[in-house]
Amino acid sequence: MQSVTVNNLIFDEYLSQREIATIVSEVAERINADYAGREPLFICVLNGAFIYASDLFKHITLPAEITFVRLKSYEGTATTGTVNMLIPLQVPIKDRDIIVIEDIVDTGLTMHGFIQQLKDEGARSVELTSFLFKPDSLQFPDATPKYIGKSIPTKFVLGYGLDFDEKGRNLPSLYVLRSEE
Ligand code: IMP
Repeated sequence: MQSVTVNNLIFDEYLSQREIATIVSEVAERINADYAGREPLFICVLNGAFIYASDLFKHITLPAEITFVRLKSYEGTATTGTVNMLIPLQVPIKDRDIIVIEDIVDTGLTMHGFIQQLKDEGARSVELTSFLFKPDSLQFPDATPKYIGKSIPTKFVLGYGLDFDEKGRNLPSLYVLRSEE
């Protein structure tokens, strides 16, 4: 099994480039079918989702647009749904069909706040696609993605855009932290 060392920890390959490519094209096919006749606006959540967004968007055959945000969520404001935008939305979203692109939904805190914010600002519809989903970690059910690449156990993963202290985003496969035992 292929492994990498990042910040002195060992990670083992979990999804190969080929497996990732299949997953991404299957998600795109579902979105293409569900949004036929519409012109959705994709919102890529930086930094982690940029590689998934790039691959996914190439498979989208709709007259779609894409824009980017960078978010910061705070535990203390979780109940109010406030999410700080480090890079704010650049385009109007009123009456748009929005598809948010995330790398991974863990507790769902970030997406819980952001989805609510998009609805409050008048989006016609808001759906979420996430390359990875950790169902056992979820604390905010409204952040459950409609379009999931792969559901995984609650383990730390990196590569394919996901980082460990900003390292490892450039790995083309997905890796999982080797467990102690
Ligand atoms: P949530 O708000 O708890 O759902 O956190 C989502 C964010 O946590 C993701 O966008 C990632 O930045 C980060 N994250 C969660 N799990 C992992 C992981 O296994 N590897 C790398 N980043 C992760």
